[in-house]
Amino acid sequence: MSPINVGLLGLGVVGGGTWQVLTRNAEEIARRAGRSIQVTGVAVRDMEKARALVGDQVLVTQDGMDIVRHPDIDIVVELIGGDTLAFDLIMEAIAQGKHVVTANKALLAEHGNEIFAAAHAKGVMVAFEAAVAGGIPIIKAIREGLTANRIQWLAGIINGTTNFILSEMRSRGLPFDQVLTQAQSLGYAEADPTFDIEGVDAAHKLSLLASLAFGIPVQFDKAHIEGISSLHQEDIAHAERLGYRIKLLGLTRRRQDGIELRVHPTLIPMDCLLANVEGAMNAVLVNGDMVGPTLYYGQGAGALPTASAVVADLVDVTRLLTSDPEHRVPHLAFQPDALSDIPVLAMADVESSYYLRLRVEDRPGVLADLARILSDLGISIGSMFQEPYSDTEASIIFLSHKAREGAVDQALERIQSLPFVRSAVTRLRVEDLL
Ligand code: NDP
Ligand code: HSE
Repeated sequence: MSPINVGLLGLGVVGGGTWQVLTRNAEEIARRAGRSIQVTGVAVRDMEKARALVGDQVLVTQDGMDIVRHPDIDIVVELIGGDTLAFDLIMEAIAQGKHVVTANKALLAEHGNEIFAAAHAKGVMVAFEAAVAGGIPIIKAIREGLTANRIQWLAGIINGTTNFILSEMRSRGLPFDQVLTQAQSLGYAEADPTFDIEGVDAAHKLSLLASLAFGIPVQFDKAHIEGISSLHQEDIAHAERLGYRIKLLGLTRRRQDGIELRVHPTLIPMDCLLANVEGAMNAVLVNGDMVGPTLYYGQGAGALPTASAVVADLVDVTRLLTSDPEHRVPHLAFQPDALSDIPVLAMADVESSYYLRLRVEDRPGVLADLARILSDLGISIGSMFQEPYSDTEASIIFLSHKAREGAVDQALERIQSLPFVRSAVTRLRVEDLL
């Protein structure tokens, strides 16, 4: 059978990795796909660098449109990133009737609904395994392996950069900035690393996972997002003392009245498997009503792990190239006309347990006043401890039982205005998960 011709848009960390995987494992991949998969064109900025890697037999261009409009190219792989040029190239590839593979979660989180609709109308595939959790086949697992289940919730460490930073800060006491530079040099971080640090990248991925899990349109704009930039080393230490690790968690849960969709630093019990996912590793815990909890773990970023997912999509598309578009696995797991309009809940309606830390004047009555505010708002204290901060001040740490976020917002507003409170209240969410 004739080979499948692939055009690569971008030959950076992931594009270079994809070239390497397709070259190194060419024979194995061809045996799995049923025909060989060859790169026949690449689009880059630096043509000399690209030429040195791919040689003279491959078309090298600076204009991505040369690739997406090339009559001999069957599948376009978008690995440029961003949501402007990448969007135009993907939409043109679809218009040209080409199948698309992309690792671009930012683009799909912002424009996925439009892209999938265009692809559906044209009968082509847009595959995006590499867009979530790097090398872990989590999309395939949810879309196909767990298809018998009504998924109740999923929680994941889905940003390698922040998990790497939190791990290094906790285990080696290294400062935030130093570890971030290291993550950048290892190729984990996004072009704009604030996407990683502020939780945006995790929220991009979580919005895709929520759609796959619950059959809802992609709704990144409704996600609650908090990153790790304001996390203090002392909270990491207090959490340890309480038996928890802090992770940047993406959590989405189906409730009767809607879907929770949130990314924030979270205290997770130390004996929970997710709490022990370290470095740039990712893990996603999915709870289905039939199968129960299943856990997916692996490298969430980097050249070869991510390329492994890109090539898996290439093999899938190659295998499905001849099948009837109406009977392919749907982009968002559910048939496009069967998506649900169940709302994504406001953060105030979310329920969680809370870690609260504040600095107060160390005198009689302070604890009683704090406890009264929490109690008036129906927030029950699970445990607390106090330690001296200075001769006249103390740090107080509360762990609450489950409470409504809206009630906690009100409590914090009242607590913050008390005359004896000497710091902003740090609020972190606690999830026991299983
Ligand atoms: P890189 O910055 O390493 O690579 C980007 C590539 O795109 C480069 O080859 C660059 O060319 C090329 N490029 C940029 N602008 C243009 C342009 N105008 N025309 C043609 N080519 C262009 O990015 P990554 O490989 O890290 O990321 C690519 C995508 O994969 C992003 O969407 C990212 O979010 C996603 N991703 C990344 C992961 C990772 O671990 N890095 C993991 C999972 C997903 P040149 O080489 O000449 O500069
Ligand atoms: N910047 C991302 C991360 C790359 O750190 O997880 C993988 O999507």
